[in-house]
Amino acid sequence: MSKRYTITAALPYTNGPIHIGHLAGVYVPADIYARYLRLTGNDVAFICGSDEHGVPITIKAKKEGVTPQDIVDKYHAIIKQSFVDFGITFDNYSRTTAKIHHDTAQDFFKTLYDNNEFVEEVTEQLYDAEANQFLADRFVTGTCPKCGNEEAYGDQCESCGSSLNATDLINPKSAITGNVPTLKETKHWFLPLNKHEDFLREWILKGHKKDWKPNVYGQVKSWIDDGLRPRAVTRDLDWGIPVPVEGGEGKVLYVWFDAPIGYISATKEWAAREGKNWEDYWKNEDTKLVHFIGKDNIVFHCIIFPSMLKAEGSYILPDNVPANEFLNLEGQKLSTSKNWAVWLPDYLIDFPNQQDVLRYALTANAPESKDNDFTWKDFQARNNNELVAIFGNFINRVVVLTNKYYGGIIPTPSEYSTIDEETLAAVKAYPAVISSSIERYRFREASQELMNLARLGNKYLADEEPWKTFKTDEARTKTVMFVALQIASALAVLSEPFLPFTSTKLKGILNSNDNGWEDVSTKDILIQASHQIGKGELLFSKIEDSEIQIQLDKLEASKKANEAEKKVTEPQKDEITFDDFTKLDLRVGTILEAEKMPKTKKLLVLKVDTGIDTRTIVSGIAESFSPEDVIGKRVTVLVNLAPRALRGVESQGMILMTEDEGGNLVFVNPDIDGVKNGLQIS
Ligand code: MF3
Ligand code: ZN
Repeated sequence: MSKRYTITAALPYTNGPIHIGHLAGVYVPADIYARYLRLTGNDVAFICGSDEHGVPITIKAKKEGVTPQDIVDKYHAIIKQSFVDFGITFDNYSRTTAKIHHDTAQDFFKTLYDNNEFVEEVTEQLYDAEANQFLADRFVTGTCPKCGNEEAYGDQCESCGSSLNATDLINPKSAITGNVPTLKETKHWFLPLNKHEDFLREWILKGHKKDWKPNVYGQVKSWIDDGLRPRAVTRDLDWGIPVPVEGGEGKVLYVWFDAPIGYISATKEWAAREGKNWEDYWKNEDTKLVHFIGKDNIVFHCIIFPSMLKAEGSYILPDNVPANEFLNLEGQKLSTSKNWAVWLPDYLIDFPNQQDVLRYALTANAPESKDNDFTWKDFQARNNNELVAIFGNFINRVVVLTNKYYGGIIPTPSEYSTIDEETLAAVKAYPAVISSSIERYRFREASQELMNLARLGNKYLADEEPWKTFKTDEARTKTVMFVALQIASALAVLSEPFLPFTSTKLKGILNSNDNGWEDVSTKDILIQASHQIGKGELLFSKIEDSEIQIQLDKLEASKKANEAEKKVTEPQKDEITFDDFTKLDLRVGTILEAEKMPKTKKLLVLKVDTGIDTRTIVSGIAESFSPEDVIGKRVTVLVNLAPRALRGVESQGMILMTEDEGGNLVFVNPDIDGVKNGLQIS
């Protein structure tokens, strides 16, 4: 039942190296999937490349005083090499500055243009006069109209995942100068997503039936239900792919228009190199297209790109988009700018030849259905308690004993006991169990099943105790060792998608490389008697506390550096009059009730006694406080702030907050004896 698969992994932005968040969310699961499909005999194109356009890259270039091309060249090389070193088996790792990509993206645009799939419109867009620059995407931040996050970008709010137009932002601010933007007219081409609503609805329903992940299906459905609007797919920028139609001079394609087309260009580049037909991988209904992405990319892969493909008309649509949630690090959000990350190139230096440890730790704790936390302690425990103590220990005992007892020559078994029969039957069941998990994109579960197979091996040895029977029952010992060697062989095969370096090593030790995935369930014997195995070699080694401490110290240093940066006191704001001040009505109040706003991370819905009344205030503090923490707190309330609806709840005022030295939110707390609620602060 061999099938053709096009597997894509989100093209990483070339504005920094790869970190564990990218690995856990996208590249490790995608690689497991691709390796598994190849092992089971499928025709696979596993595609990725660098996403080299877009605003973050120009911002970084400006900051460093170099050209965007310098930035992308530098990080493309670093990223590409680190993927190779980490064992990610892309069939092609391309880049969006490649000529083949520029051509492909421009052709795609032209086709949609010629088919009248765009709406051409002059509209007022945000403009920074000082920087002489239109402000879209990451050039502008402001408050998200959907969730109230104050750091939403011009194209997306990372807090609630909404896709935005820059003009949707409340209180927009230029990321270049900090200025409040003005409006200026400019012409752009819009993809009328509203026109594709019906098709999208039908298509995701199909996906739902195919068991798409609930987080993906739910998000997409709610966006469609909210109503889709036309979306500009061109920008007034000078870094990007030139708009290839009349009137497009000086404009480029929106980075999220060109980047997903990068999957297609990278496939073309690969097919040309390998003598294949790229269209088989993109235009043949028998091909299964799967996009591996992080949750912040869902809208682009489930709404915008499918609409583009549909509008073009000759492409297949994704069969599944198994997006992951986010991985945090030691309890805090990963952040490139705050250097709060474990960088892949650093990991590869600090833990040489231990790629599989990180692959395993990230898979066993993957953020598949909710955000998860990576801690160095957990990493150490996964290694020491599972890879070393279970997998490594089992293999080591089998190999050492085979060498010690039989000079490395696999002994001939005599009759199997019931336990032997049951054990071998249990081993045979594993390929189907692991396959089923992988095919449902449950890589965590799959990795645990693999570990269960190693556990089975360990238990078998512990129960049968060949080291005891060796002195008393030669025939029984041979049988036990033979069975144990079958389990070791099964592990060598089934570990390949998860622990590829270990699998290769183990096949080397067993001196056996001729079993496939299916063989483990069909063959009675995976490794024959009288076959010579090699000498033992440790597959994993214990990670000491001192190694973990080095990593924790690095993070501590980042934290200190961030705090130092933060403590720079903000400059004084523009002068105001006394009248301006007296307009503020600040009161002492008490929080009476608090609950989390459903489906948000940041928001608490509070009932506050202001002395005047008891009112509802929605406050973005849920990441710092749980409801129990804040009930009963005395607070300072701005009571005459115009009410505003957040997620459908009207917020009638604002609670004043500041930050302590560690950057934690604290209440501006008027908890002074005898001060009653409702007293004015003036
Ligand atoms: N560069 C984007 C990110 O890191 C992902 C691009 S995926 C593609 O979020 F579809 F556009 F290629
Ligand atoms: Zn939002």
